[in-house]
Amino acid sequence: MQEVYLNGDFLPADQAKVSVFDRGFLLGDGVYEVIPVYGGRSFQLLGHLERLQASLDGVRMNNPMTNVQWQTMIEQLVERNGGGEQSLYLQVTRGVAPRDHVFPQGVESTAFAMSSPLIPVEYKYKKQGIAAITLPDIRWQNCNIKAITLLPNSLLKQQALEAGAQEALLIRDGYLTEGAASNAYAVIDGTIYTAPKDEKVLPGITRELVITLAAKAKIPLVEQAVSLNELKNADEIWLSSSTKEVLPITTLDGAEVGNGLPGPIWQQIDAHYQQYKKDVDAWQ
Ligand SMILES: Cc1ncc(COP(=O)(O)O)c(C=O)c1O
Repeated sequence: MQEVYLNGDFLPADQAKVSVFDRGFLLGDGVYEVIPVYGGRSFQLLGHLERLQASLDGVRMNNPMTNVQWQTMIEQLVERNGGGEQSLYLQVTRGVAPRDHVFPQGVESTAFAMSSPLIPVEYKYKKQGIAAITLPDIRWQNCNIKAITLLPNSLLKQQALEAGAQEALLIRDGYLTEGAASNAYAVIDGTIYTAPKDEKVLPGITRELVITLAAKAKIPLVEQAVSLNELKNADEIWLSSSTKEVLPITTLDGAEVGNGLPGPIWQQIDAHYQQYKKDVDAWQ
């Protein structure tokens, strides 16, 4: 039976209960993290905990635990769920209070964590790439905060799926921001472009690693948004996320990207990414 963590306790998933007055349930008033676990060890944990703190600060919510407490809890949760490969989900909400838009006073936040199987990206998607469509970025103005309020992302992803694609690439004011559940990249004339870290994109942990790996591989990378037109003419397009890693997009809005196959710069970054996963201890 899957075990979850809720407010200090480890419980079988079917015994963990949250009040119907929890502000996460009633108002979507919470933030979250998704962390991959390889060989029983969480990957890039510090980056995720720092981003969790930034999200909490962004919505003026207290962090219920120190980083050391999070780390200890996570180690136990991973072990209780059998080690190996997992996908961890952490969520903090503003807690349980009578429904009101205004923040409640003196209420403890709800801390929840669960583990799911980490489903590796199918080999065919790395071999052939995936399809994406462009859609207007209908999300709010604080996309740097990893808020649980994911209705726009869910609508966008569903629309992509119904169009036969795996991801929606989002366009705001004529420029690519990111994917519905990923950061996005365009390669133009040998340079990698990705939108800068501001309130229009989530500061992806994988994005940060891609930037480091590109520097290591001496591949030019610019933190600059590309226009829709530049995107449509890009030589390569990729997405990145903690659970999907770095994936090539080879069809955009029904048209081939480049020659329709994963490009050489993606191949290099993916090779470095896979090597980094193996050598991660040596890097720290
Ligand atoms: C909107 C959005 N952007 C970017 C990312 C990638 O972030 P990370 O690499 O930290 O998983 C995600 C991950 O789920 C996301 O939902």
